[in-house]
Amino acid sequence: MSIFINEKTGLFQIVTENTEYQMKADKYGVLKHLWYGGKTGCDMEYLLNYPDVGFSGNIYDAGNDRTYSLDTLPLEYACEGVGDYRITAAAAVHSDGSCALDLRYKGYRISKGKYGIKGLPAVYADENEAETLEIILKDNCSDIEVTLKYGVLPKLDIITRCISIANNGNEPVIFTKAASLCLDIPQGSWEWIHFHGRHTLERQIERMPLNHGIQESSSTRGTSSHQQNPTVLLCSPDCTETAGSCIGAVLMYSGSFQTKLQLDQLEQVRLIVGIHPDLFRWELKPSEVFDTPEVILSYSGSGMEALSHNFQKVIREHVCRGKYKLSERPVLINNWEATYFDFDENKILKIAEQAADLGVDMLVLDDGWFGKRDDDCSGLGDWFVNEKKIGGGLGRLAEKIKGMGMKFGLWFEPEMVSEDSELYRAHPEWAIQIPSKKPVRSRYQLVLDMTNPEVREYIFEAISNILNSADISYVKWDMNRSICDWHTPCLPAENQGEMPHRYILGLYELLERLTNAFPDVLFEGCSGGGGRFDAGMLYYCPQIWCSDDTDAFERTKIQYGTSFFYPVSAVGAHISAVPGHQTGRITPIETRAVTAMAGSFGYELDLNTLSDGEKQKVKEQIVRFKQDGPLIHNGLYYRLSNPMTDKFAVWEFVSENRTDVLVNGVIFRTEPNSRQYSIKLRGLLPEADYRLAENGKVYKGSALMNGGILLPKSWGDYVPVEMHFTVEV
Ligand code: GLA
Repeated sequence: MSIFINEKTGLFQIVTENTEYQMKADKYGVLKHLWYGGKTGCDMEYLLNYPDVGFSGNIYDAGNDRTYSLDTLPLEYACEGVGDYRITAAAAVHSDGSCALDLRYKGYRISKGKYGIKGLPAVYADENEAETLEIILKDNCSDIEVTLKYGVLPKLDIITRCISIANNGNEPVIFTKAASLCLDIPQGSWEWIHFHGRHTLERQIERMPLNHGIQESSSTRGTSSHQQNPTVLLCSPDCTETAGSCIGAVLMYSGSFQTKLQLDQLEQVRLIVGIHPDLFRWELKPSEVFDTPEVILSYSGSGMEALSHNFQKVIREHVCRGKYKLSERPVLINNWEATYFDFDENKILKIAEQAADLGVDMLVLDDGWFGKRDDDCSGLGDWFVNEKKIGGGLGRLAEKIKGMGMKFGLWFEPEMVSEDSELYRAHPEWAIQIPSKKPVRSRYQLVLDMTNPEVREYIFEAISNILNSADISYVKWDMNRSICDWHTPCLPAENQGEMPHRYILGLYELLERLTNAFPDVLFEGCSGGGGRFDAGMLYYCPQIWCSDDTDAFERTKIQYGTSFFYPVSAVGAHISAVPGHQTGRITPIETRAVTAMAGSFGYELDLNTLSDGEKQKVKEQIVRFKQDGPLIHNGLYYRLSNPMTDKFAVWEFVSENRTDVLVNGVIFRTEPNSRQYSIKLRGLLPEADYRLAENGKVYKGSALMNGGILLPKSWGDYVPVEMHFTVEV
């Protein structure tokens, strides 16, 4: 049991293996937030302040008590219009034009297992792995009812949250904001970490003190975006990988989002996470219910490493689904950086033959195989094979690839349309645009209206036809632009504000349908690399192409940022040619291998262009990934250095029983007359003896963790680090 309620005091306690979450419905029916942190085992109300603060008003029920103010108390779900002047989670406009939501406690429900959310991705768990708490709040002045849902996975130290809003009245109510998470942290000093970037430079970590006032990371692009990721970390100023307090939140959503933080007048922190309100205006009609996306929360009192382990595990085992969730991923070769649009069947077969010869499992045919698609100006939407390039069709090509002992995968960009396409000529109204305005083009393309069921039906049929026409084992689902010009003929003028969220609901519905219809196909997400790298997409695709930057050095930083919340198996990573196509940098093939193996591994170059020596290395790399893959994907992942500030990037995989250890990394530069750097390992058995395969020597676990091990002597730049340790028996 993880949920405890004291009916007398109104105290709700959620207790997991190492954490505790508390809230309390008080005598006014206000649901106050009391605590999220380490286990305390007692009512934490004693820590609350009731100061009489000027200009912080008091609810009427409090009479002349000037110390009871919604503007100063920590609240479980803060709403607008009730005298709380901090950032709020929800705002509504009632039929009389008033805007207050005065939520008061009505009741609760507890159930076994984890709740699901209709039409949205959500963490799932067996009945005996999770519990659900629902707290029902009712607006004091309307028939709006808000249910706060908590899913508890006690063993994983995970609590999920989402909100369900019901209109039990007779008039519609317009919601202009409905966040998934409101978390007040009244005590302590906190810094925040978020992950920003751009195309080919995703999830760069930034850690900052909180300023008085408001700060945010967000996206209004219609996607979760390269620019900011829908994840956030709050940590104590002394928090490191292995010590200190931290709270993480992951929004399971692939559209525009907002993570907002405020340090208020009393040095208290409020965190709000949810759909971006700038692009949200939802009419809740009588008897209707609105469900927000889910937020996954975790707390660690022992640093960020434990927090990351919680998130990596819950996402790998309770978000990702399907046949490939825990199974080995095929080593693939993708032709994009090898050929771009310039290919025909012969060229592809040559690439395939060489790849098969070296042990690759699957060939993925990327952009350019369909319609009139010789460059990025045309063809999107026409999902039928381009016979000029692939003469005998996909079925024959797939058979030939299969004949070489490999599987066959295919690229799609289903949500897009080129103006120069048969689809656009037949259905210009399917592209998102405002009737009185020319649309914004990006990569020359327009976006299909995913709120339109006819569009979804067309895409479902088109992709199904292709998948049924050939033996296709993998789909790369790409999405190569940000969205604007929000307008759809499917909604009346007054409801156009619902379109951005309805787009995501439409996308999820289509993905659900397709992944159910083709359960044996491995779906990989992509959006110009990692522009939609989020837990929402991972519910449908167990891996996502991490970045269009395949440069090994840049990848150490991108993958470092990605690792704070997402599992290694979710990270699509390939070895590409040098000089790198994004940076012109030259890195050794072994260095490219260690970075690409910290993910779902593959190649993205024409292997025919390699020297015999390099080909031999490729052969060995594939054998190595087959051996180490289970440890890499199932093991615990440790960040042993910070590549943003250190002279090297080093990371470690440790098997759950601690007997197998793989240390990988890159030493960025060699300095003359320099000493060898050392690195401390983590997560080992202190008493055990570990043999290092590379030199045959034996080291004690406690020595490797307390003293460390010397990194190899480097020569040249971007030197790979590879150390395998196994416990001596
Ligand atoms: C995006 C993807 C690439 C490739 C191209 C094809 O940029 O991230 O991997 O598929 O599209 O156009």
